[in-house]
Amino acid sequence: MSYFTYKLIHYLGIFILVATLGAALGRHAMTDGRDPLRSRLGAVHGVALFLVLLGGFGLMARVGVDHGSMFPGWILAKFGIWVLLGGVLFVARRNRRWTMPLLAFVPLLAVLAGWVAFAKPF
Ligand code: HEM
Repeated sequence: MSYFTYKLIHYLGIFILVATLGAALGRHAMTDGRDPLRSRLGAVHGVALFLVLLGGFGLMARVGVDHGSMFPGWILAKFGIWVLLGGVLFVARRNRRWTMPLLAFVPLLAVLAGWVAFAKPF
């Protein structure tokens, strides 16, 4: 698959991820933790994380990051952001006071991931 196709898959995953986290956190803030859509939103969150990973690995291959060698720092940073975005709902469900701050944190993390990919600072 081409660089462009992997980038579309990466973007699709990113946009579903941010939209789903927004919906899940917003509903979590409104309901007392008993959201009837909780498991479905959790499943979509998982699919989005997978699409981000699939697109990301494909892009890595297309921009010449050799899978055999140590990943460059900017890729490791992106993995870290991916793990943080994967854990957002877990944190919110553990500590409801974090729900609204996390709602602001998610888009900031997404922009940071985009900048890291664009600037490759390390
Ligand atoms: C598993 C973790 C991830 C990997 C391996 C990964 C890998 C990549 C790669 C290789 C590129 C292309 C860089 C280039 O064209 O030179 C890229 C671009 C991008 N990634 Fe990721 N990524 C990951 C997670 C994320 C996450 C979680 C987000 C945001 C939520 C994100 C946002 C972006 C954006 C916006 C671009 C386009 C940057 C640009 O060209 O302007 N990535 N990513």
